[in-house]
Amino acid sequence: MKISLKRDVQARHVATGFENIHFVHKALPEIDRQKIDLSTTVFGHKFSAPLIVGAITGGTSEATKINSAIAEAVEALGLGMGVGSQRAAIEDKRLEKTFAIARKKAPTAFLIANVGGVQLVNGYGVREVKKAIEMIEADAIAIHLNSLQEAVQPEGQTNFKGILEKISELAKELDKPIIAKETGAGIAAEEAKKLESAGAKGIDISGAGGTSFAAVECYRAEGRGNSFQRMLGDVFWDWGIPSAASLVEVSQAVKIPVIASGGIRRGVEVAKALAVGANLTSLSYPILQAAVKGARETINVLSSLIEELRNSMFLVGADSVRALKRVPIVITAETAEWLTVRGFNVESYARRGRSETL
Ligand SMILES: Cc1cc2nc3c(=O)[nH]c(=O)nc-3n(C[C@H](O)[C@H](O)[C@H](O)COP(=O)(O)O)c2cc1C
Repeated sequence: MKISLKRDVQARHVATGFENIHFVHKALPEIDRQKIDLSTTVFGHKFSAPLIVGAITGGTSEATKINSAIAEAVEALGLGMGVGSQRAAIEDKRLEKTFAIARKKAPTAFLIANVGGVQLVNGYGVREVKKAIEMIEADAIAIHLNSLQEAVQPEGQTNFKGILEKISELAKELDKPIIAKETGAGIAAEEAKKLESAGAKGIDISGAGGTSFAAVECYRAEGRGNSFQRMLGDVFWDWGIPSAASLVEVSQAVKIPVIASGGIRRGVEVAKALAVGANLTSLSYPILQAAVKGARETINVLSSLIEELRNSMFLVGADSVRALKRVPIVITAETAEWLTVRGFNVESYARRGRSETL
């Protein structure tokens, strides 16, 4: 958390691909901007807008303040939030309050607990995961997939063998939905299908183009004078499936809700992600930057995103989230190339709502 606030840990040479996704501006929107309905129901929960704050932190006193600010903001705005990995608090009860503050400050918001998938391979089971859920009275549990981070970390846990089976076992035992979540390297259609079959009830694609965990580890290694590990982080800095490509892949592959994240920075990108197929969108790094300043600043940043989303919807004549999913989208450049080479249909997005006789 400290590194990502002090140093630039954003992707360097890989972009999200949302710059290659274009709306077709509608000169005749035929809707009233004031009457646009941003609400949506996902996982049986009604969100005032299709926006959540992605997993960031927990475990330290600093983290308590950040979780508190985010929770206060999402409660005020009717959104949702994920807490960071709860491993530290599962192992040390004294740290529970750094996470539990989220539910205290957000009694009605949608909250997502967080445990690492690799922890399931290395001994965590139903007991530990239930503990994480109960700690924040969570509505869902994210199982994070972070092979990139573990692979560039000196102390990384790199045995992922059997991870899908562990997720499947867990899904049978839990009464809360499992969201399989990447952490900045994206999810491909093949993996998404396997996760859906294993019982995941949602997928957070968290693709490349935003926060890079290889970058974080590069700076951590630099701080420790570990030049080999620093180089490894540097080489893998831009690794991953760009967010927009991952989002199209996954939303065409599965029927469960899809959360778009990884480098989403403005409400226009939120709108693009929804139009392409996301059910919810999520941001982490920009919200961390706001949350260190407090709840008020977090509310301001989230409110701006919501207004930008509303404007985008107005300009394409979409008066609801459902209507936004039917507007034409043009996918160009590397994103179109990626998807075409991978066998996905790009043209159907551009032809939406168009009569053949145009
Ligand atoms: C400081 C920081 C800590 C994070 N910690 C976690 C974590 O504990 N668990 C997790 O699933 N994702 C974690 N993430 C990843 C984010 O949830 C998200 O997937 C990723 O940062 C991409 O989104 P962004 O580009 O909007 O930051 C963290 C991100 C940041 C910036």
